[in-house]
Amino acid sequence: MSAPAPALPPQDMTGKVCLVTGANSGIGLVTARELCARGAEVLMVCRSAEKGAEAAAEIEAATGRRPRLYLADLSDLAQVARVAREVKAEHARLDVLVNNAGGHFPRYMESAQGYELTFALNHLSYFLLTHHLLPLVEAAPAGRVVCVASRAHEKSALDLDDPFFKRRARLFQTPLVGAFLVYGTSKLLNVLFTRELARRLKARGSAVTVNALHPGVVRTGFGKDYGGLFNLAARALGLVSISPEQGARTSVYLATSPEVAGVSGGYFDKCREVQPSATARDPAQAARLWALSEGLCEGFM
Ligand SMILES: NC(=O)c1ccc[n+]([C@@H]2O[C@H](COP(=O)([O-])OP(=O)(O)OC[C@H]3O[C@@H](n4cnc5c(N)ncnc54)[C@H](OP(=O)(O)O)[C@@H]3O)[C@@H](O)[C@H]2O)c1
Repeated sequence: MSAPAPALPPQDMTGKVCLVTGANSGIGLVTARELCARGAEVLMVCRSAEKGAEAAAEIEAATGRRPRLYLADLSDLAQVARVAREVKAEHARLDVLVNNAGGHFPRYMESAQGYELTFALNHLSYFLLTHHLLPLVEAAPAGRVVCVASRAHEKSALDLDDPFFKRRARLFQTPLVGAFLVYGTSKLLNVLFTRELARRLKARGSAVTVNALHPGVVRTGFGKDYGGLFNLAARALGLVSISPEQGARTSVYLATSPEVAGVSGGYFDKCREVQPSATARDPAQAARLWALSEGLCEGFM
């Protein structure tokens, strides 16, 4: 296992408004805390009022600044649209949007709209929340969108004719391996979405940048629905994990560093731009995913 991302020289974020999804634990919590510590006004989107309030208090104790908490189950498109309305009612500008909330599920489950849950949470929430909040990000002088993806995207099983794995339901019968492929596909969608959004923004001369990242293999609540099995498997595979502090570095880098001002459509690992997989770089798949996502979000856009 190679070294984690380097520690970052802190960038002053005073006066900037930054929103982080899934900010009550793991990488999202540290990202929100680090942005607060740099002086930003931080908005957290969490699904649990209790966990969200606890995290907000923890961040306030560490930084002296209390983030504003918004609540939504981001797998539910209606709640994504509603929380975006709440944010828009209180803010005219968003300097940074960090799409971070995600999950890995041990069996086939569906969202409120009847979509496979990994697809709904890990991809559609990024797509729909960004769609609704983009006008706010465009109102910032140099707005940034950051999408937490994963190197797991390289092991994906992309078939946009079967986005909910109905024809490949057998994958869910081998929870760790099969569900890992389902998860990996959702993270591939994060990279495809990032690249297509960057292309569209450039085409219309927008100053907003959007980049995706792999945080590393990070010791977080991730895979908690598997009990101890997930961590056991990670150890058996020899995956050495890093702390959430180290895991959040690339997110914070993309959200704050002047080094990436103007850089868009990239995929980063350890604060360096790297090539995502060949499928992730396929513009035809990216365009198809965009059209599919618009169709699935119809009624919520
Ligand atoms: N950990 C790793 O090794 C690793 C590697 C590559 C990529 N990633 C990515 O990193 C991101 C953050 O994961 P993490 O490792 O920090 O895991 P984590 O500690 O489990 O954090 C995930 C966050 O997402 C939130 N979330 C989950 N389902 C949600 C929903 N339906 N609505 C709203 N929020 C929801 C969780 O809230 P609750 O506490 O309420 O569940 C939590 O705040 C994910 O996108 C993941 O795919 C992680």
